[in-house]
Amino acid sequence: MTQLAQRTQRIDASGIRRVFDLARSLENPINLSIGQPDFDVPDGVKKAACDAIGAGHNTYTPTQGIAPLRRQLLAEEKAFTQRDWSEQELLVTSGVSGGLFLALLALVEDGDEVIIPDPYFVMYKQLVRFLGGTPVYLDTYDSDFGIDPDRLAALITPKTKALLINSPANPTGRILSRSELEAVAAVCRKRGLLVISDEIYRHFAYGPMTSMAEVYENTLLLAGHSKSYGMTGWRLGYACGPAPIIRAMTMVQQYSFVCAPAVTQYAALACPQVELGPYIDDYRAKRDLMVSILGEHFKLAPPDGAFYLWAEAPAGYTGTSFVEKAIANNMLIIPGAVFSERDTHFRICYTVPDDMLRKGAELLCKLALD
Ligand SMILES: Cc1ncc(COP(=O)(O)O)c(C=O)c1O
Repeated sequence: MTQLAQRTQRIDASGIRRVFDLARSLENPINLSIGQPDFDVPDGVKKAACDAIGAGHNTYTPTQGIAPLRRQLLAEEKAFTQRDWSEQELLVTSGVSGGLFLALLALVEDGDEVIIPDPYFVMYKQLVRFLGGTPVYLDTYDSDFGIDPDRLAALITPKTKALLINSPANPTGRILSRSELEAVAAVCRKRGLLVISDEIYRHFAYGPMTSMAEVYENTLLLAGHSKSYGMTGWRLGYACGPAPIIRAMTMVQQYSFVCAPAVTQYAALACPQVELGPYIDDYRAKRDLMVSILGEHFKLAPPDGAFYLWAEAPAGYTGTSFVEKAIANNMLIIPGAVFSERDTHFRICYTVPDDMLRKGAELLCKLALD
């Protein structure tokens, strides 16, 4: 038997795999587990993709990304973050996952620590561990899922490589306010600490949204098109940050992904023509609907953005045991232990039609009262 690399032992996909295995065994479940938008790629973007294929844009692109997309993204980032990014500070990646992987590959060495607010997006913990680093969890449960700057300061050691934040967040939907980000920036500035800021949900903000890059110079920003344009399968994202880090990430991309998908890069040139307002309004209304029904029976995190709700399991249940009960009633939700070192909550994704959402919310309330 060929021996697998030791690093494969350090990652564990069992939690989420179990949920998806169960999903396959259910017939027409009320499925509130899928973390992606329910709208299709907008027509103008689809047409741009077809046109790109027709025009023969099917070959490798420069590793950094095609020039017109790079210009477009630099202009967008300048507007969003109020910072004048240079050419050397941008890399087009294969999704935010691609950017995250390249960043951590370029930064994390054996024994390095990466501070991750808990709850967290599943990939963070696994990738840091895969690369030989140690995730250091910053508990946010008793700070309303925000970051307590004193607690952050106490976790920083000489081995700390970066703080990895996500706002609006998966799984909580929490947005870190400008003043919270400024407090985080003050701690990081004092210690010279890099912040990796995953802003993949930045357009799904139902209130003010500040980018970490606006308030802190030493930020590596990761953003992408998957969620905003229903393009999860098209694999496009980008990283903006300190030139030496972008240079190292570009080098790693050259020998791994090579470039982000060419057709998708050309298609993304049509994204600025898409009016995102209606999609955002739709998800805001779904959030309001879920909060109004579930708020009566569950303790919810403040859902300011993204398209998730993070709810505490009723008394007497762990996150997992409550999810098992939901599954026994033909509903799929995700146990909090997949996103956390605790097993007290569950995650709902509300990107489904309203009738299913209502049915799901009512069933959850019934289960909580059982
Ligand atoms: C917080 C967060 N970051 C990154 C990703 C991955 O996004 P992409 O499709 O751009 O790789 C996801 C997808 O669920 C996510 O929730």
